[in-house]
Amino acid sequence: MRRRFLAANWKMHKSIAEAVAFAKDFLPRIAWAEHEVAIAPPFPALSALGHALAGSPVALAAQNVHDEAQGAFTGEVAPSMLAEAGCQWVIVGHSERRHLFGERDAFIARKVAAVFAAGMRPIVCVGETLDEREAGRTFAVLETQLDGSLADVPSGHAADLVLAYEPVWAIGTGRTATPDGAQEAHAMIRGWLRGRFADDAGAIRIQYGGSVKPDNAAELLAQPDIDGALVGGASLDPESFARIVRA
Ligand code: 13P
Repeated sequence: MRRRFLAANWKMHKSIAEAVAFAKDFLPRIAWAEHEVAIAPPFPALSALGHALAGSPVALAAQNVHDEAQGAFTGEVAPSMLAEAGCQWVIVGHSERRHLFGERDAFIARKVAAVFAAGMRPIVCVGETLDEREAGRTFAVLETQLDGSLADVPSGHAADLVLAYEPVWAIGTGRTATPDGAQEAHAMIRGWLRGRFADDAGAIRIQYGGSVKPDNAAELLAQPDIDGALVGGASLDPESFARIVRA
C-alpha cells in the first residue's frame, strides 16, 4: 500500500516571513493528516520554514540541487547543504528547470544519485509539452525522460524514489489532465518502473502535478496509479493546500 504524498512547490514565491506565517496558519489545519506532506520553499526560506515545521508531520523539501559536493558553481547549492538545512526531499528535473534552464536528463540523473548519497530523497519530474502530446509522442517522451533521469538510481534505493508526472501544458494553465488521461500516463510510468525496478515498482509513488486544485484533487487521487500530488499555485494559500491534503 502506497502512502499518499502531497507536496507543495512554491516556486519563486514567498519571503522568509511569509513562509513562517504560512506554517503557523497551515499546520493546525492538517494536524490529523494521515498522508505524507512536504513543502518546498525558495532556498532562503528553507531554514526558517524548517524550524517552523519542526515537530510537525510536514517535511521540508528543496526545489533544486546541484550534483557536485562543492566547487566553483556560482549560484548553485550542494546536496549536503540542503540536508544540513533540514531537507528530506528534493524536487529534481522540474519542467521549469528542463525548459527554462536547459537541464538535461544526464544532469538530472546525477542529481538523483547525489540526493540519495546525501541521505535525502528525490521527487523526479517528467512530463510532455503540448506539441509533444499533439504529435502523439507522450509515451515516447516519458520513456526517454525516465530512461535518462533514472539511469543512476543507487541499488537498494528504488523504492525510495518518488516520481511526479507533470504534463507541461497543465502547469499553471488551469488546464488539468482528466483523471483518466492522467491515470493512463501514470500506468505507463508504472509499467516502465516495473521493467526497470521489478518488485520495487509497486512501492514507488507517482504524484500528479499540473493545476491541481481543491476542487479536482479528490478525483485525480482516486485513480489507482496516482499516489499524490505536486501542487504549485494552489499550495500558496494555507486553506487551499490543506483542502488538497484532506481531499
Ligand atoms: P501548478 O499547480 O501551479 O499548475 O504547478 C504545478 C507544478 O509545476 C508543481 O511542481
